Amino acid sequence: MGSAPRGSRRAALGLLLQVLLGWGSAQQPGSCPAPCECSEAARTVKCVNRNLTAVPPDLPPYTRLLFLTGNRLASLPPGALLSLLPALRRISLGHNTWVCDCCIEHLVSWLKESDQVEGKGALKCSYPDKMQDKALVKTNSSDLDCSVPVDIQSQLQTSYVFLGIVLALIGAIFLLVLFHREDSKQNKRTEANARFSLITKILQDCKQIKIKIT
Ligand SMILES: *[C@@H]1O[C@H](CO)[C@@H](O)[C@H](O)[C@H]1NC(C)=O
Ligand SMILES: *[C@@H]1O[C@H](CO)[C@@H](O)[C@H](O)[C@H]1NC(C)=O
Repeated sequence: MGSAPRGSRRAALGLLLQVLLGWGSAQQPGSCPAPCECSEAARTVKCVNRNLTAVPPDLPPYTRLLFLTGNRLASLPPGALLSLLPALRRISLGHNTWVCDCCIEHLVSWLKESDQVEGKGALKCSYPDKMQDKALVKTNSSDLDCSVPVDIQSQLQTSYVFLGIVLALIGAIFLLVLFHREDSKQNKRTEANARFSLITKILQDCKQIKIKIT
């Protein structure tokens, strides 16, 4: 009779170890992030009208159709999104609050050549005022004020130091993941998600620097 509590104690210890190693927080691949509705059969993920300011990082890898309409996305790291979602064919981005500054340059150049974005010509800038209602695909780098004023050079350096620390952390996590290869698929997703979060973070830093200038 004493074996049942010992078994549950061992299970609890295992769970604790997983949480300590950070696995407890990792979502299972294929599960649906909270603000979204997912259909694996239709390969469709809808994260619509949720006032999201960033793309949820744990989108299921089967995603072929992605709806992100009616949110508050200011920018998007398209390269990171595509490496995370290899099956992505169609993405809807309408009714968001795109900020047409330097941080959106990658999105604009991707939009110009991609045929994956539903009605890309209808995507409009919401900010800054001088760019309001201008189509994203019609902006060019001379519109997207990408020059960095001299007085924020030191701030930039600070953020590079911060970026260095983040990269070192990611490296440490990567090494940790390497030591636990037995579930390599899950590890690849975790790694891709970490990269995606990092790029989202860089975009946010870009925003903060912009806010400090103005
Ligand atoms: C989004 O923001 C609007 C305006 O602030 C609010 O009315 C609406 O309830 C929000 N929607 C969600 C899903 O939080
Ligand atoms: C950028 O667009 C503006 C109009 O919005 C145009 O006057 C300018 O020539 C364009 N610059 C380049 C490099 O295409």
